[in-house]
Amino acid sequence: MFTMAQHSTFDIQPSKNPVSDEERKKILDAPGFGQYFTDHMVVIDYEQGKGWHNHRVVPYSEFSVNPANMVLHYGQAIFEGLKAYRHSDGSIVTFRPEANAERFQNSAARMAMPKLSKEDFVDSIRELVKIDAAWVPKAGGEECLYLRPFMFATENGLGVHPAHKFTYVLIASPAGAYFSGGIEPVTVWVSHEYVRACPGGTGAAKFAGNYAASLAAQEAADKEGCDQVLWLDAIERENIEEMGGMNVMFVERDGDDVTIITPALSGSLLPGITRDSLKTVAKDLGYSVDERVITMKELEERVGTGEITEAFACGTAAVINPIGTFKSRDGEFTVNNCESGEITMKMRSTLTGIQHGELPDTHDWLATLVD
Ligand code: PLP
Ligand code: COI
Repeated sequence: MFTMAQHSTFDIQPSKNPVSDEERKKILDAPGFGQYFTDHMVVIDYEQGKGWHNHRVVPYSEFSVNPANMVLHYGQAIFEGLKAYRHSDGSIVTFRPEANAERFQNSAARMAMPKLSKEDFVDSIRELVKIDAAWVPKAGGEECLYLRPFMFATENGLGVHPAHKFTYVLIASPAGAYFSGGIEPVTVWVSHEYVRACPGGTGAAKFAGNYAASLAAQEAADKEGCDQVLWLDAIERENIEEMGGMNVMFVERDGDDVTIITPALSGSLLPGITRDSLKTVAKDLGYSVDERVITMKELEERVGTGEITEAFACGTAAVINPIGTFKSRDGEFTVNNCESGEITMKMRSTLTGIQHGELPDTHDWLATLVD
């Protein structure tokens, strides 16, 4: 049955003391990642029996938290990540927001949280980007506006049960390269000590606790001089899953034949929207795509024989970043002499070309937010 989309009205309360033009320009010249926030945020409340209500755009500000707030104790909290890009004609677009809306719903279902409608999710993005359009960096560079939708329990009480009250919030942060070294090949630490997710667990949800659980391993990676953790599966401790905040892909090359190998969605790794998009980009570029189990042993052996020629991380924040070195308790090996690979960079320029409006959007992935 065809159902009409339900759009809500957002109450707009503009900030009385936005960041000055001069200060904002300084920030946009070197935004880093996740350090500065725009003048406004979107907030929507949920209460069981009443549903989602009080849709509003308000000045960016702090929340006050009751010490018995259930999220502080039992951790019902999920989030998303996507970006807004300015095109050379001044318009602002985002990339596949409905896919993020759907994953947000799936994460909510896994964490016994209410689903926010896709319309509310996408409309919240439209409202925030409209009012904070001056925060979207200029066209022609890598910089864009990172959007962070999230939802958390707001009921107070210590009984262990799904909360009956939640808050959805959208904040935005101008962003440059995710890794401090820019788009240089990174070193990953293959974690044998810890696991990120297990069958039946929460790994496929964008659940805050997954990230909390990853931090001890990230500290271990830091101590080893590595940029990120590469996670293995919980059972065999051999199958490659993903990185702390990115999926992974490998390039297999035999003359002109190129195959992109990526770990199959096992139920414990996050179904990345960049990963999904790159499967299509790869096919458009004439490459084959092989989603399957790939072990550390296979990776090391076939990097050694020269069959696997490149490795890269992919995700919204990181875009595509080459991986140069794999390090673990068993030693280390490098891929492509620790240099950015040709296929990796071709995939990157194609994806970012579409996102930044420099290549045709043949798959209808872009949604215009501001004309
Ligand atoms: N895996 C994890 C654990 C992530 O946090 C992310 C980032 O969102 C990804 C993969 C990549 O997902 P996406 O491409 O949708 O950003
Ligand atoms: C993203 O790419 O949007 C992420 O959420 C990754 C990380 C910053 C947690």
